[in-house]
Amino acid sequence: MDKFIFVLGSNWQLSIAELDNVLKNSEFKGKITDYSANIAIVEFDNLHEDRHYINRLMELQFILGGTQKICKIFDFINIQTIHDAFPLHIEKFKLVERTRNKILSNLSQVLDNVFQRIKKENLFFATSIYPNFYDDEYYSKVLIKHFLPFLNKEIMNILKEKGAEKSLYYKYPEENIKSGNLNPIFPHHLIKYGLFNPDRAEIVFGFTEEGVYIARTFTSDDPNFKKKVDEERPFKEFKSAISPKLALMMLNFLNLFEERELKKIIDPFVGNGTIPLFALIQDFQIYGSDIEAKKVNNTLRNINWLIEELEEEVPFLLREQFKTTDVRDLSSKFDVNYFDGVCTEPSLGPFFKNKPYFSQVQELIETELEPLYKATFDEANKILKPNSRFVFVAPIFSTVDGGDLQLNIEKIARKYNFKSIPILDQNRIVNKSNIRLQFQKQHFKTLIDAKKGQIVKRKIYIYEKQG
Ligand SMILES: C[S@@+](CC[C@H](N)C(=O)[O-])C[C@H]1O[C@@H](n2cnc3c(N)ncnc32)[C@H](O)[C@@H]1O
Repeated sequence: MDKFIFVLGSNWQLSIAELDNVLKNSEFKGKITDYSANIAIVEFDNLHEDRHYINRLMELQFILGGTQKICKIFDFINIQTIHDAFPLHIEKFKLVERTRNKILSNLSQVLDNVFQRIKKENLFFATSIYPNFYDDEYYSKVLIKHFLPFLNKEIMNILKEKGAEKSLYYKYPEENIKSGNLNPIFPHHLIKYGLFNPDRAEIVFGFTEEGVYIARTFTSDDPNFKKKVDEERPFKEFKSAISPKLALMMLNFLNLFEERELKKIIDPFVGNGTIPLFALIQDFQIYGSDIEAKKVNNTLRNINWLIEELEEEVPFLLREQFKTTDVRDLSSKFDVNYFDGVCTEPSLGPFFKNKPYFSQVQELIETELEPLYKATFDEANKILKPNSRFVFVAPIFSTVDGGDLQLNIEKIARKYNFKSIPILDQNRIVNKSNIRLQFQKQHFKTLIDAKKGQIVKRKIYIYEKQG
């Protein structure tokens, strides 16, 4: 059965949650059989039976916010063999030589699969290594400094021995190799260097605790397009907006994978419209509202800009689908039981430049945020169809004097007829021995999206309206 490496985004836990949810609930049925903090190994139930499965992989890549690349696996070498061939300190030279030769024979076979034709061809390849964690000692001391040069040299030689006219490889900056600090090539390089062409390839070595999966990259994310939508739209305000990746992931947690063009979804705190913009790209019927008329106009201008960029037609009643309203009056502006999903980033409170005091946040939560989130649940319950989902972010505040503080979302949800949906299905996640790779109990309920040291972190919640 064919297996694939999914290269994960920087928030690997959230990327795994998104991917597993898609593999469980969409037509792309399958499971994650192994993972690290950089990759997930996926086995599909029947996707590989489709002769044109690459097109299906491209569709899958397009909907996922947290997957950078999808690569087809051709071989696997267990971790003991790798450690024998590339130990941290070389002591047993014979063992090193023997196991390196074994690896060479693996590589030889892999290359027959990676390149359709080798004889007389001018071939170019890039080697990418994904370790368990980028801060692993084994990555900086061994994989970058010894394994990578070994692979580049040996792959080049094997291709020549197999009759290639020329074989060249992508050279990483020497100073990165020396310092042991290296990132595998980015998705936009794949396009720049033509690595999807038959005579060119990115060969990926993806490590987990079990061993290394050897694969060829088949599809990649188009970060330039996301960046363009995010940065070139007429109206933007980065400090209050979620990232395109997070918007896509949240849309996937709505669990609406079939006939997206018929699914109505609403963001009742649109701001400058990040969520509806990416929902439009994903074919949803988009609706939205905001308390500020200016924001609603910004969103509409951004949507019109995107439609022009995509050279598509403006939806018939677009103007009417976006309204200026306080979330408290949502159900007087839109029909009851009308929407298939609510996906939103409500107000997260003021923008703190420095950590606030515990009492300050406590007051903010009691007087502003809790009433706002209560009203949002109340209204979401009215406008959503039964069994439809409400996906949103809520803030976690780091305070100077009292640790972290957040809203009691579960209590509010229960009151307004919503049941919590775990962001990760505990039964589907394989066991890992490294504690940093394990999901803790609380991770199965919700996950956080934040950069290191961020004062206000975003927590992602999934709820379902009960029937
Ligand atoms: C965090 S921002 C949303 C940003 C948005 N995701 C974006 O991409 O720009 C929150 C938005 O909620 C709006 N808002 C605040 N209180 C509101 C209320 N009571 N009802 C509706 N909208 C409200 C604000 O005007 C603001 O645009």
